[in-house]
Amino acid sequence: MGTRSITGTLLFFALTLGACTESAGTAPAVDASVRDVATERREDTGADAPQDAAEDAPALPSLIGPPEFEDRNADPRVVEVELVASVGVAEHLAGRMTDAMLYNGRTPGPTLHARAGDRVIVHFRNDLDEPTTVHWHGLRISDAMDGNPMVQPPIAPGATFDYNFVVPEAGTFWYHPHINTIEQLDRGLYGAIVVHEPEAPRFSAERVFVLDDVRLDASGQIAPFAPMGHDAVHGRAGNLLLLNGSAARASSTAPRGAFERWRLLNAAGSRVLTVSVAGASWRVVGTDGGLLPQPYTTTRLAIAPGQRFDLEVAYDGDGGPAQLVTYVLAQTDAGVQTVPRTLAEVRYEGEVAAVAPTYPRVALPARADAPHEETLRLGATTTGALRFTINGHAHEEGSDPMLEFPRGQPVRFTIVNEIAPEHPFHLHGQFFQVLTRDGRDAREPGLRDTVQLGPRETVVIETRLENPGRWMYHCHIPEHAEHGMMGELVVTP
Ligand code: C2O
Ligand code: CU
Repeated sequence: MGTRSITGTLLFFALTLGACTESAGTAPAVDASVRDVATERREDTGADAPQDAAEDAPALPSLIGPPEFEDRNADPRVVEVELVASVGVAEHLAGRMTDAMLYNGRTPGPTLHARAGDRVIVHFRNDLDEPTTVHWHGLRISDAMDGNPMVQPPIAPGATFDYNFVVPEAGTFWYHPHINTIEQLDRGLYGAIVVHEPEAPRFSAERVFVLDDVRLDASGQIAPFAPMGHDAVHGRAGNLLLLNGSAARASSTAPRGAFERWRLLNAAGSRVLTVSVAGASWRVVGTDGGLLPQPYTTTRLAIAPGQRFDLEVAYDGDGGPAQLVTYVLAQTDAGVQTVPRTLAEVRYEGEVAAVAPTYPRVALPARADAPHEETLRLGATTTGALRFTINGHAHEEGSDPMLEFPRGQPVRFTIVNEIAPEHPFHLHGQFFQVLTRDGRDAREPGLRDTVQLGPRETVVIETRLENPGRWMYHCHIPEHAEHGMMGELVVTP
């Protein structure tokens, strides 16, 4: 009783004052100065022919990054794969074996690679000794295949389930469990999904960068999970940054003059990753929901947990290397400061005269004239056990007041973060656009399924709810979601 109220008081201060300075900081405003350099570049590079012209059955471009699933279906429009979740070891640090949870024996799991409109069949087996489901984060598929444990009965240890769906649109997505996500995600259960446009823009190469952090103890094992304290309030942050499962700097080569597509995904539990590219020109060409109508340039990108960004990288620097850089807090002679850290480098080797990619025309839904308005207040209760809430309600299975909308209904959600901890807010099965932050134009173009809310920030999003079904929305910090910051809505057909 006494301990509980003291804990409650401490949590109250942490929640209201924001006792944390550990994260990489809030999202810097995106410089959305749109500049259409594709046209200029096309003129610059003249009439160099694209590398290949296999018109009738164009193969999917190959991906540099985690290996792809083995597709065992001969039909080019069906991707049929096997997926097994199990315990095993990962080599996050060279020569050190860390007990982990793995998809097909690795973390990240294999990349699921398809083309928009393809059918995907995943024969899943749970070899963990706890239940799980697989959620296909960002894909607008049917709710029965979405991995929501309130729709799909949890897959018991030793049991199997066949996920079977059509991927409706192109973009960079990912998959991860939706049960005991605090541990299952942190221990390594996640993988990338790349869905190509029917007429995909052509690049010299495409790279998949799955970013994460993990907390290892002195013995190189994943540190025990603390149910209370800082981790519960802010989500668990790691002490080791991982790129495609490894803490080592990834190193490779590319010819000067090449154009590449870099697909970035933040799979970390709570850390916002701020990134930049050095040694090459780059611009943002896609977000959670696929390509943008207009690429834009910026100096740094803040990637919230769960979010994706697609970049066009032009190897036009003075010899490189091109580097994927992130920014971390570190102890320096001048005190604790934000310092750049290189996660990957691509050395220039050779030279090509590549043609700048041309992008398909993309139109985003216009702002609705008279959208339905809803407010979601993100908060917490500190009397007794810590619970996170939406509109005062901590999620409990079967007890949620469910919002219901007809399909196609434009809805404007005002999401109010009433506490100090930040929240990457995620809506399943739909895309939305971010309209404003604290009343100001957000200047965050593109479709999203996840948006970051800073301390006490109010963010307005608009969605069209085009996908019928029963959909979860929740904070993507597993500690917050599993302690109540979760809800569901229904879109009627
Ligand atoms: Cu990426 Cu409900 O999750
Ligand atoms: Cu949260």
